[in-house]
Formats: sequence, structure tokens, C-alpha cells
Amino acid sequence: MFERASAVIKDGNKLSFEYVPEKLVHREKQMERLEMLFRPMVMEGRSCSAFLIGGVGTGKTVTAKRFCDNMLKYCGSKGKLMDKIFVNCRLRNTEYSVILQLVRHYDPGFPDRGFSASDMMRALRIHIESGMRPLVIVLDEVDMLLKNNSKDLIYQLSRYTEDIKGVSSVSMIMISQESIVKLLDQATMSTFKRANSIVFDRYTKEELRGIIKIRADEALITGTIEDDIIDLLADFSEGYGDARFAIELIEKSAQIAESGTEGYISADDVRTANAMIYSDVSENKLISLDLNKKLALLAISRAIKKETIISITSAEKTYAIVCEEYDQVARKHTQFWTYIQDMEHRGLLETSVRSEIDGGRVTYISIPGIPPKELAKKLEYLLETPTSTDECEY
Ligand SMILES: Nc1ncnc2c1ncn2[C@@H]1O[C@H](COP(=O)(O)OP(=O)(O)O)[C@@H](O)[C@H]1O
Ligand SMILES: [Mg+2]
Repeated sequence: MFERASAVIKDGNKLSFEYVPEKLVHREKQMERLEMLFRPMVMEGRSCSAFLIGGVGTGKTVTAKRFCDNMLKYCGSKGKLMDKIFVNCRLRNTEYSVILQLVRHYDPGFPDRGFSASDMMRALRIHIESGMRPLVIVLDEVDMLLKNNSKDLIYQLSRYTEDIKGVSSVSMIMISQESIVKLLDQATMSTFKRANSIVFDRYTKEELRGIIKIRADEALITGTIEDDIIDLLADFSEGYGDARFAIELIEKSAQIAESGTEGYISADDVRTANAMIYSDVSENKLISLDLNKKLALLAISRAIKKETIISITSAEKTYAIVCEEYDQVARKHTQFWTYIQDMEHRGLLETSVRSEIDGGRVTYISIPGIPPKELAKKLEYLLETPTSTDECEY
């Protein structure tokens, strides 16, 4: 049963998220900036740092990996030693598990219990110093760690960047969807330079087209994907500006085509794939919301636009405007807040509380799983075709 020859897919690995292409199109500027920021490390062994900031699927992880691999290769070719550790903070979102991974890089048998975090930090320091070479630590999705109250680890590592002795040095690349400056305290920030932020904008349709073309050529059998299908894939991905979505869409479309008999990817395969990917945010979930919640969610999806999160205050402002547009009376703050909680419970949005620089605490809202623009479109459509659930709760 498994022997059936593929008609469409040549090398499925080229569509996996783990795959790091040799060349990254449209990220040349970010690569150059990284090169510039890390030159002192490669040339003189000094400690450097960079923050990579951008939305989902803008190529932050793949760029960091490509850059570190290139840098390792370069150092190797010049007979220089260097080391790198890549930490995925979504998987390791506690201080303890991050330090454990760092220590295990040097000592794979290090036990996972019986040592305190500070014991492990001491062990790590000894390893780094006796390594006699620069070390780059990449903390991917570091916001996951910071939201978990793990600022201390970053602080301690930032001290390492200043006072590790001898030939060794510690450099950091921190990757996040939002500005890390907001998440870190001032003491830690003072050791990093704000100017070291590298921004990853959403990809334009043309850029996505280029990425899709290259990936499809690598992964699919020649002649199974026409240019107009590549255009269609780029069309569907444009709203998201997200290469992850684009690549997932190639993969799903190819799998659907594979199970058919035509031997190539058709426009319908792409449409079916697109519908499959976002079936999570099923219309049923939205239909069951009453009018006020629909308006609140529409306001949030409009207010978020290109950002990844918004504060509840700016959501409320947009909510007032949306209510006016739909001739409804905007509910007060406490009521709005219950809408948010209810919709979070239904899995339509997520909230998080952040400490601001002035010491205040602010609730932020994000929409997982669907680009805000698409969600807004769905809601606008539903609001034009009212149903019985639209009677408001008071
Ligand atoms: N410029 C690019 N060229 C080729 N592939 C890319 C590019 N940018 C992103 N990708 C691919 O898109 C997917 C998502 O990229 P990733 O780096 O994981 O995004 P992020 O970390 O910003 O969420 C990965 O499969 C990656 O290989
Ligand atoms: Mg990533």
C-alpha cells in the first residue's frame, strides 16, 4: 500500500518547517544586518546581540538558523572556534528547562532533577569558560518565556555577555513576535542595545509568490504545478503575509492532488486545502455569538490589523466606532470585558496581562488561528445576514 509512486510530491521534507533552505529570498537585508551585528564576535570574539521581531511566518526562525549555520561554516573555514545553542522557548517555556538544555549542550547526561537553577547556571558558566570559544545562544519565541516570569534568566545571561572571562564570550539572538524591549526590565535592557532590533515585515504577495515558487520547485515533481496555481497560492496567502501559511497550503494542496487522479495541482485542490487549514475557526462558532459579541470581535479584528496584539483600551475604542456603524449602543467597560472573557472561553481570542514600564498592568488581546482581516470579513458577512442569535443579551 505504501509503495504507490508519488505523482505530485518529489521530496516532502522540503515542505517541512524544519527545513532550512540554503538561500532565503527577500530576507537579504535582515541577513546583512545580522552579519553586521555579529562581525565583532566572528572577528574578535566579542559578545554581540540581536532581537528579531516580526509576526508569525515572517521567516525569523529560518533566518536565524541559516545565519548561525553560515556563521559556523565561515568560522570553520577560517580555523576559528565557535558554538551555538538553539532554544525553542515555546517548547521550553520555563527558566529551569531552558537552563537544562543549555547545560546539556555541554554535558548530555546532566540529570533533570536534583540541581537548582543557580547550580545549573554555575555549571553552565564553567562549561562556557572552559570551552574557550564564543557561544551564540538563540532564544526563539522568547516572549513565551518572558510571559512566564522568567526575566531573571535573561538578566543572568545578559550579565554573562558582559563578564564571562577569558577567550569565551556569550552572544544572544532573541526572537519574538513583539518588541522585547517592552517585555524586559530596564536593568536587562541596559546591557543590550535597542538599536539591535531587526524587523521582519509581513511578506507582500510578490514576495510570497517567489518563496512559493522556489519551495514548489524543490518539493514537487516538474510539471505538476502551473504558474497560475502559484499565483492562486500567493493570492490566498497574501492576507496573512505568512510564509508558514503559504508552505502549509502548498503541502495540503499537493496532498489533495496526490490522492486524485489528475497528476497535477488544480485550482480546486488549492481551494479545498485553504478551507481545510482554517476550518478551526468554524463559522458555527461565530454564528453562535450574539450581536454584541460579534460587534466586539469585529472591532478587535479590525483594530488588530497588522499588529499581533492590541490593548483592551484600543479594542474598546474601535468597538464604540463599530457599534455606531451598526446602529447599536456600545456596552460599558465591564460588559465589554465579559464579552472578551466569554470569547476567550470559546477559543476565539486570547488575552494576556503585561506590566507596563510605568508599573501599571494592561490586558492585551490576540486572535490565534486566523488572520484578523479574514475574521473581520467573515463577521461582516454574518452581520449582513442576521440570525436569531442576534438578539442581544442584557
Ligand atoms: N524568505 C524565505 N524563503 C524561503 N522560505 C521561507 C522564507 N521565510 C520563511 N520561509 C519558510 O516559511 C516557514 C515559516 O518561517 P519561520 O522562519 O518558521 O517563520 P517565523 O519564525 O517568523 O514564524 C518555514 O517553513 C520557512 O522555511
Ligand atoms: Mg519561529
